[in-house]
Amino acid sequence: MGILEGQAAIITGAGQGLGRAIALEFAREGSAVALLERNPDTVEETRRDIEAQGGEAYAYPLDITDYDRYAQVVADVIAKKGKIDTLVNNAAIAIYGTILNDRLEDWRKQITVNLESVYMGSKLVAPHMVERRYGRIVSIASIQGFASSGEAGPYNAAKGGIIAYTKSMAVELGQYGILVNAVAPGFMRTPMSFVNGVDETTTPDFIEWYVNRGKVPLRRTGLPEDVSGTVVFLASSYCRYMTGQLLVVDGGLMSTF
Ligand SMILES: NC(=O)c1ccc[n+]([C@@H]2O[C@H](COP(=O)([O-])OP(=O)(O)OC[C@H]3O[C@@H](n4cnc5c(N)ncnc54)[C@H](O)[C@@H]3O)[C@@H](O)[C@H]2O)c1
Repeated sequence: MGILEGQAAIITGAGQGLGRAIALEFAREGSAVALLERNPDTVEETRRDIEAQGGEAYAYPLDITDYDRYAQVVADVIAKKGKIDTLVNNAAIAIYGTILNDRLEDWRKQITVNLESVYMGSKLVAPHMVERRYGRIVSIASIQGFASSGEAGPYNAAKGGIIAYTKSMAVELGQYGILVNAVAPGFMRTPMSFVNGVDETTTPDFIEWYVNRGKVPLRRTGLPEDVSGTVVFLASSYCRYMTGQLLVVDGGLMSTF
């Protein structure tokens, strides 16, 4: 029996990268998963793969900033499963630039997808969780929420916002038995790590600094599977007296300089 047996979860951005790995891991641990993703092809692929491994998954192709549609999806999941145990706020976008050359339009896009949707998704599931006196909200932040590599200001602002907002929600929702936590991955190998067509976790500079010289003490890039178990833990009964916290999953990167 899995540690999430009989549960139901919503996972955003489940078509690839971390969201896909989290969805597969939740399903392996026995949770039914609602996959919210703007790419209809990748979300369908995740759904098929979960079914092939004997899991229960529902694909919802949507842009999560379409809040009317998001509300319909939440209602549909509750109608299908009778409940939502966990919401995983994972979907995000990254648009690179500095304050000297980036655009207000891109700031707004990133704040909307990466932060506002965390607010709205949580707002949509919270009343239902309050009613049940049970719920878990897990949001994927980033080490960029508290330390910057440069050229990603709006992204970082959104991730810092997630860390602060996680604490606000934890304080407001604790009395209803709802735990709200966040995860901050470091360098992960996913489609997001491609910048201008190059996987930035495989460049000679990256290998020299982060691997050979041990800036990542575990001396490798993280894989989606390195994060998914942490999210499963936060959704499981092994986590029950912990809320408002940020778990850093970065191979030790933020522990050295
Ligand atoms: N890759 C890394 O190194 C890294 C590091 C730290 C944090 N993170 C965070 O982890 C999470 C997952 O990142 P990833 O690397 O898997 O990224 P990714 O780009 O590989 O996957 C993100 C997924 O979200 C979907 N998505 C984006 N906007 C959407 C929207 N408006 N509606 C619905 N779906 C949408 C995309 O289509 C994609 O499938 C993000 O929150 C990211 O900020 C990633």
